[in-house]
Amino acid sequence: MLVEASAPGKCILFGEHAVVFGQPAVAVAIEQRIKVSIQPSPDEHWRLEGHRLDAKKHPHLNTLRHRLWPTKDGAPPLSIQITGDIPRASGLGSSAALSVAACAALRVARGRWMVEARDGVHHWAEGYSSSIGDTDAYATFDDQKAGLRPSNYDNRTHMIHAESALDLDECAVLGHAVEAAAQGGRASPMDASTCAHGGVVLLSDQVEEDATHLYRRELEMSDGKRTWELHDLEVPEGGDDLFLVIGNTGVHAPTSAQVAKVAEAIGQEPERMKEIETIGTIARRGILALKNGDYDAVGRAMTENQIMLRGLGVSCPELDALIRAAAPTSLGAKLTGAGGGGCMVALTRNPKTTSEAIELAGGRAFISKFGNEGVRVETIERMPIWSPDS
Ligand code: PMV
Repeated sequence: MLVEASAPGKCILFGEHAVVFGQPAVAVAIEQRIKVSIQPSPDEHWRLEGHRLDAKKHPHLNTLRHRLWPTKDGAPPLSIQITGDIPRASGLGSSAALSVAACAALRVARGRWMVEARDGVHHWAEGYSSSIGDTDAYATFDDQKAGLRPSNYDNRTHMIHAESALDLDECAVLGHAVEAAAQGGRASPMDASTCAHGGVVLLSDQVEEDATHLYRRELEMSDGKRTWELHDLEVPEGGDDLFLVIGNTGVHAPTSAQVAKVAEAIGQEPERMKEIETIGTIARRGILALKNGDYDAVGRAMTENQIMLRGLGVSCPELDALIRAAAPTSLGAKLTGAGGGGCMVALTRNPKTTSEAIELAGGRAFISKFGNEGVRVETIERMPIWSPDS
């Protein structure tokens, strides 16, 4: 009995940090992925890589199991394995990819209770989605009841199993909720949505034209409520010979510390909000260029974005060195993610030359095409892992 699901990492073309304050941003799903495998534990304990699951060390997995796994109904503890090629704590969304893949695996293994309304339409009796208001992915209590829809759950009629139970919006909203909890309540939905939906994801403070609107996300933060409109952005023709080259400094920098550093800087000098707004203006220019397929202008916006990020204090000498090395052979280059270490990304038509330049400057380079597939189920063997009737 085994279920496996995988999700891609992401890199950010424009707008990290500013997006936490509600400014626009664009992220791209990369080729590198994380796979989560689950099967019944050999004993009465939840296990990760064979060891007892430590809730403090793995808060994402711990919250997800409470949200999604019906232990109280008798479902057995699980054994979890994680594999993949996304470097950890490096600005590539490894924790969001892990959360989204884990969410998919748990939901597929568990199934979903449904209710059939009098008109024959089937509705969820449980679960999390931007289109239902009576369950709360962001609830602070670790109780799976948060996911039960009170009126529907009492009338549950049947269960849907395996892939038909999977829902991308659910993976994204739960992924965002656990990211926000891990980042002290400050996280944009960018990582989780890009890992769930794949492709190119655009976040904005308004519903955009020329992009498919996915949903609205809202989050209450210590300094006010944020609202983001998320979109799937179709990359126009002409991007076929374009590559992202990612350069890893090998320096680990936790996202939460970087996000807190920016919040503190702005708390101390509120006029620095101007810098966040300027990143938003640059991102808007980059988004327009992306919609028009003008990749030279996309690259220029990335480079301008980097200048602002450096000013904000989230770059570092190692990142600057890799960005300098990549610049001559690329259309634009910048850090990706929270910064302070981790990765940079270059947009280039010469992936091999750009990679070599990054490696010569001391980084580890890898290449990704634009816009890869989002979360997907890899394996379903001898299901169900557990059934409410068994
Ligand atoms: O470092 P990563 O891959 O977790 O990306 C963080 C992106 C930020 O904008 C800095 C934070 C966020 O929640 O959007």
